[in-house]
Amino acid sequence: MNQQQRLHYLKRTAALSDQDIKIIQDPLSVFNFDDANRMIENAIGMIVLPLGIATNFVINGKEYVLPMAIEEPSVIAASSKAAKIAKIKGGFTAEADRSLMIGQVQLVSLPISVEAAKERIQANKEHLLHLANSKTKTVTAKDFEVRRIHDKSQNKMGEMLVVELIIDTQDAMGANAINTMCETIAPGIEELTGGKAILKILSNYATRRLVKCKAIFDKNELGGDQIVKRILYAYAFAYSDTYRAVTHNKGIMNGIDAVALATGQDFRAIEAGAHAYAARDGTYRSLTRWHKTKDGDLAGEIELPMAVGTVGGIASVHPIAKVALKILGVKTSQDLAMVLSASGLAQNLAAIRALASEGIQRGHMKLHARNIAAMAGAEGDLIYVVANRIVKENNININRAKEILKSLSSKTK
Ligand code: MEV
Repeated sequence: MNQQQRLHYLKRTAALSDQDIKIIQDPLSVFNFDDANRMIENAIGMIVLPLGIATNFVINGKEYVLPMAIEEPSVIAASSKAAKIAKIKGGFTAEADRSLMIGQVQLVSLPISVEAAKERIQANKEHLLHLANSKTKTVTAKDFEVRRIHDKSQNKMGEMLVVELIIDTQDAMGANAINTMCETIAPGIEELTGGKAILKILSNYATRRLVKCKAIFDKNELGGDQIVKRILYAYAFAYSDTYRAVTHNKGIMNGIDAVALATGQDFRAIEAGAHAYAARDGTYRSLTRWHKTKDGDLAGEIELPMAVGTVGGIASVHPIAKVALKILGVKTSQDLAMVLSASGLAQNLAAIRALASEGIQRGHMKLHARNIAAMAGAEGDLIYVVANRIVKENNININRAKEILKSLSSKTK
């Protein structure tokens, strides 16, 4: 399909309006310098990323088209291919926790014992929760815990208490509301204990907001028993070696970040939480798990924290993110989290399958050849002509692309 056909397809399947289509085709008409300048400081312009769609995703029995914002070739093709294989055995099965986030208030310099301070805070639980909930209606502080922490840094700052609010942010990611709540209760906690509240901020380690996703990949579609075995070796490597695990997880984040970026999520928050979770047993490991089923197929699963929102934040104001959410057709943050986890699992399968068989460079460089051709100065259809030649010659480099371009243009003169 060309761009028009793809958009026409989306218009039908995702019920996009003419205005939505216009936004995708001409994003600068709805997001201009003034918008950028309102969003950040010292704005000088904008950086534009490609927006594409991954297909074939079936998650909990429902078909999805995934909008992905990414500059890396192969990711969208790889996702779509992996999702197509998963579809044979029913697609992805996912589940997401409620949107429970943690907000932390750090308390130091206590004039009373840590235990006594803890007791006073616990005894005033209802009052503190009421205070936390006094500023906002959309998100709710449900509970809190008090933890004692000992400074392990070289500065030996001693003992501190951390009050952790448990907040249900519903369909919002919730960062602003959580931070407001933490700041709202801090003076009350200082008053109760005589201590000093230093930091008041959410935790991006959203361990109460996990998402899980699994899928079975048909062994024949993957390339047979030997490929399944080689993929299990790839997984063994990522599970057991941090140097490999980081790259393995980077591939997972290719899938997650691209959808997160397209839908206006805070992908740095997702990244930070994911990597901490990958190290939850004390060693940084693969975020996915893989095993062979009794039928010889490959079963994969992923579990990670996923603090995302479909309301509030950039997702509600950025016109392209809004259309991307419409393309996805998700309403709740749970639905979005499940899609993101499927995207990560699919991307991981595609990467380790390629790595465990022909290697990734062939497919990757084939797509990258177009960039090389453009970098060499080719324009329009010539990009494809030059790219095809350097791929065919198995010589994907800029100098060769320039030579071909020169010979083609001298022929046309
Ligand atoms: C490249 O962006 C991602 C991979 O390196 C992931 C992996 O090695 O599993 C291919």
